[in-house]
Amino acid sequence: MQSLFFLCLNSKLRLLLVTAIVIIAVNGVDRSNFKTCNDSSFCKRNREISPNQSPYNVVDDSISIQGSKISFDIKNQANDALLAATVAVLRNGKARLRIKEKNPMYPRYEVEDILIKEPDEETGVLANRDDQGIQLNFRDKQLILTLKPFRIDFLVNNTLVISVNSRGLMNFENYRKKHKPADESTKEGSENSEAVNQVSSETEDVPAVDENLADKVGQRDEELKGLWEETFKSHSDSKPKGPSSVGLDFSFPGVEHVYGIPEHADSLALKSTSGGDPYRLYNLDVFEYEIDNPMALYGSIPFMLAHCAKSTVGLFWMNAAETWIDIDSNKAKDSILSRFASMLKGNEEMPQIDTHWFSESGIIDVFFMFGPRPNDVFEQYASLTGPTYLPPLFAIAYHQSRWNYNDEEDVRSVDSKFDEHDIPYDVLWLDIEHTDGKKYFTWDSTKFPNPEDMQKSLAAKGRKMVTIVDPHIKRDSGYGIDQDASNQGRYVKNKDDNVYEGWCWPGSSSWIDFINPEHRDWWASRFNLDNYPGSTNSLFIWNDMNEPSVFNGPEITMHKDAKHFGGWEHRDVHNIFGLYAHKATADGLIARSGFKERPFVLSRAFFAGSQRFGAIWTGDNTASWEHLKISLPMIMSISIAGLPFAGADVGGFFKNPDEELLVRWYQTASYQPFFRAHAHIDTRRREPWLLAEANMNIVRDAIRTRYALLPFWYTLFYQASVKGGTIIRPLFTEYPEDVSTFAMSDEYLIGSDLLVKPITDASASSTSIYLPGNNELWYDIENYKWFTGPRSISMSVSLNKIPVFQRGGSIVPRKERIRRCSSLMYDDPYTLTVALNRKAQALGQLYIDDGHSFDYSKGEFSLRKFTYEDNVLSSRPGSAYGNYKTNSWLEKIVVLGMKNKPSKISVSGKNSTPRKLKFKYDRENRRLTVKKPEVNIVDDWEINFKF
Ligand code: GLC
Repeated sequence: MQSLFFLCLNSKLRLLLVTAIVIIAVNGVDRSNFKTCNDSSFCKRNREISPNQSPYNVVDDSISIQGSKISFDIKNQANDALLAATVAVLRNGKARLRIKEKNPMYPRYEVEDILIKEPDEETGVLANRDDQGIQLNFRDKQLILTLKPFRIDFLVNNTLVISVNSRGLMNFENYRKKHKPADESTKEGSENSEAVNQVSSETEDVPAVDENLADKVGQRDEELKGLWEETFKSHSDSKPKGPSSVGLDFSFPGVEHVYGIPEHADSLALKSTSGGDPYRLYNLDVFEYEIDNPMALYGSIPFMLAHCAKSTVGLFWMNAAETWIDIDSNKAKDSILSRFASMLKGNEEMPQIDTHWFSESGIIDVFFMFGPRPNDVFEQYASLTGPTYLPPLFAIAYHQSRWNYNDEEDVRSVDSKFDEHDIPYDVLWLDIEHTDGKKYFTWDSTKFPNPEDMQKSLAAKGRKMVTIVDPHIKRDSGYGIDQDASNQGRYVKNKDDNVYEGWCWPGSSSWIDFINPEHRDWWASRFNLDNYPGSTNSLFIWNDMNEPSVFNGPEITMHKDAKHFGGWEHRDVHNIFGLYAHKATADGLIARSGFKERPFVLSRAFFAGSQRFGAIWTGDNTASWEHLKISLPMIMSISIAGLPFAGADVGGFFKNPDEELLVRWYQTASYQPFFRAHAHIDTRRREPWLLAEANMNIVRDAIRTRYALLPFWYTLFYQASVKGGTIIRPLFTEYPEDVSTFAMSDEYLIGSDLLVKPITDASASSTSIYLPGNNELWYDIENYKWFTGPRSISMSVSLNKIPVFQRGGSIVPRKERIRRCSSLMYDDPYTLTVALNRKAQALGQLYIDDGHSFDYSKGEFSLRKFTYEDNVLSSRPGSAYGNYKTNSWLEKIVVLGMKNKPSKISVSGKNSTPRKLKFKYDRENRRLTVKKPEVNIVDDWEINFKF
């Protein structure tokens, strides 16, 4: 209806309407655009399941055990439908449970391309079987499969850590025929005929689940429950295959805190959903989203971490359909079977978190990770979906964006103002207005007549440009991309098999079907310099609106009955669609460079695995203190779920920040992984030099501090790219036994060595900071005052102060020369800040490579390990060996926590003659500065401190 209405309007009116939608949005989220659980029939159905009445039993004689894997059938006693299940114990503390239909009427979507490889199964697993079930013993763990009803429990060191279906909420809606009233059942054809055509040859064996269920509920009830058709506002979902949801419950005994399942604008430690809506995972374009609620946002990662002082486990629900997750805090005694009662000490009740996951379609494919510590779970998860890619260095520097930089003159002027005010930046961004009528891969020839020259003049200064390329394609027969996509059949289809059309920035648009690998390859090749006129090798890409955002679609997204490659409905693949667009774009940039250069692509939508393709940001936030504050838990939650390269629009996208907010936002974001200022087209200009001079100076300092710390950030990215894991970290992940950190999200660690407490309150003149760790020393990086953890301190925070502490026992590398951008810093000398712990020891790492190519994967990198011990600071190769050479030398060493003044300091090394070094000692602050050791940073050397 809505699209017909749109089509009847002339193009000016259409654009006005699109603008109106945006303007309405500027005035706050319109909640009625988005479903609550009550508006979603599968959400309601799953939520209504009564606990402790599970009809699912394991079929005794179907069980077979092969090594670390048990295969078995599960029968739904209510309708005799059969499911085929496997549970396998995997290497390095993981397990996987898969449940599918035994004889599905239609194929069910199984997520592809997310696991980096088929996980290795564990060896040496011992199996025991009795009447009640099967027990697998592996290392210090046990898996217990109970047959009636189906249930799985995992124990680590004889302690129950995860129970599956212990509340009996499992639900697997088999595909079925639509119930027809008796007088119609003999008629030919049905509204479901298209789907029926796809019925597989196994249909004959399909048990009569449909009639059973339908007879029970009756046709009217079926319709009421939205089994076969569902409407939301003016949109109708035709549901040709009927109900197909899958659900399961997971309990975490002993646990009071669960985390993850981004993206939500909510607290870090997830809240109980009882009495409200479940957390929802469904990639959506939510204008001016509200904070502190479980509504879905742009990205979805169905990964959860459950943590208590004794153990940490992870759960990954690999399903790309719309998913809801209920969370409830309970007492374990209520829900644990008597066979586990002995594990509860005495009569004590133990806390427990119960979760209930359900998705609209697909299969049950779930991974369990057993830690035992948060960082172990992160590694286990990275072994499944991959660690982050290693971004080029410029990508972790500062980015300047707004909707829009208007023309080449504007670009030139913004660029030169950065230089004029001595503020470093690396990348200038162009939003949708740079194109010819929102046709991506084109330029507005009046505003941007010479895009190549524009990029080259930025590149001449070492800078880059990013342009936006969204996945919706303007329907315009004069537009080559549209012509090719149409002629070559590359668009998503609607339910009637015509090209799917909807509304987005360009007006009438269609969407490339990124689910098809051939279409992804075609899309990737659009980024060849020949195919993208006006692009150069210093141009990188921003994929926005890839949830996908469809202005006139249900919930501002694509209709669920739209059709993709392989016959999949959009409902099956919704949450993975944006990832495929992101991946195809990143692959395109890699191919453009002859497979030599690392890509940079920012995406708004994301899914598990997006960390392999680029960065993401938290979308259209608002210039308010609340949004600044929520950026911390949001980025941490995304990071916990394996995607560390994340950030939020500095200053807030909607509305105008006052100067204090903007300054505080720069300070905060300068300590977040992706650091970009961006703003809505209707906001006032807010480049740093437009601030009062004193405020601009603070912003300049914040950006310069980021640049100085780039070697530290880059080393952390390298570490995360090898092992997985976070870059900015909630305190509990490094101090997993410190209960007071479990719900803390107003401060965080960068790696394990810098602790940051951003100031996110207006007019704050002081703040309290918790410093963790028994006997851990923390040094204020500005004035070198030290504090011993664990304790809370109060600190005054004038506008130029953002509290940051270096952990005693760490060595942080910096480059302190002030440059225009990161590429001009390659050969700059280093400063090492050695913060001593109580034993007068410290340890640090430095990773270096060329900062842009893939040569590091052929050994062109250098990894150094710096150790301070027994009064000697030494540089040695790190845990991986590379050949990268650099001209950078060590310019300065700052030692914090040095109790006495040394009598002599000398340096010796492989390539330098031993010599005495000059130094300065500040007794009051216990700070020692050693000047010009002048050793090459990647050589082996020692610096001796004599007392
Ligand atoms: C979306 C993006 C925003 C961008 C705008 C125009 O709202 O989230 O960052 O500026 O579209 O492209």
